[in-house]
Amino acid sequence: MNRKPIFAANWKMNLGPSATEDFLKSFLSKTQGQAFPAEIVIAPPFVSLAKLADILHSPGASKEAQAIQIAAQNCSQFDSGAYTGEVSVLMLREFFVHYVIIGHSERRAIYGETDAIINAKIHKAREANLKPIFCIGETLAQREAGQLETVLRTQITEGLKGVSDKDMAEIVIAYEPVWAIGTGVTATSQQAQDAHAFVRSVVAGLYGADSAAKLRIQYGGSVKPGNAAELMACPDIDGALIGGAALEPQSFLEIIRNGSNPVS
Ligand code: 13P
Repeated sequence: MNRKPIFAANWKMNLGPSATEDFLKSFLSKTQGQAFPAEIVIAPPFVSLAKLADILHSPGASKEAQAIQIAAQNCSQFDSGAYTGEVSVLMLREFFVHYVIIGHSERRAIYGETDAIINAKIHKAREANLKPIFCIGETLAQREAGQLETVLRTQITEGLKGVSDKDMAEIVIAYEPVWAIGTGVTATSQQAQDAHAFVRSVVAGLYGADSAAKLRIQYGGSVKPGNAAELMACPDIDGALIGGAALEPQSFLEIIRNGSNPVS
């Protein structure tokens, strides 16, 4: 199955509008005239979406700029109304947003997002035709207690409850072991491959072998230029969701470059 790799920068709470402009100027100058056999996505903070949209979709934007997809880092599960601090899916659509990260472990751990909230957000995103990047992953304690598969199966089953086959085709799953996020400790490529193969098997059980074979599963957690090729060479790893190493244009570019020409 030929799945197009997807490399997404999750900037988290970094790079406001002026830093976004600096990043893009540098990134676009480095990618000028280069085509990658991969999809490139940037998820800035909400306040930088307008800057990203303006630059990537300005009338004179280069082919490389237009090919970059914009993602949000979160969305509300509600349409509109008295939800202070929240941003709706229709608002995101006004900024050329096509992807939305849902269920990141930081949202789960710090903001108390449950599988049910994440499920509601996935449905809301699909109503607005946004493509969820649905994050799952276990903590170190869960892994050490032998709960890896139970945790992943529950997150997948609950998060995707009621999601149709048609909508599933528009979803990307990001496997991010919590213990590897921002720690410098990457899962070994074998640990990552095993978890990805398991995720694909759970999705096959829910949606059938064909949907599972088409599903793109990103790895996230301390991805760097130096480990991207080895991770991406694994048969069930279809790209990366990158935090710290995607804050700097050269390093994000090297991850894409190294990861989309994997050593086999
Ligand atoms: P790091 O790449 O900084 O470990 O973050 C991973 C992540 O959480 C991406 O969503």
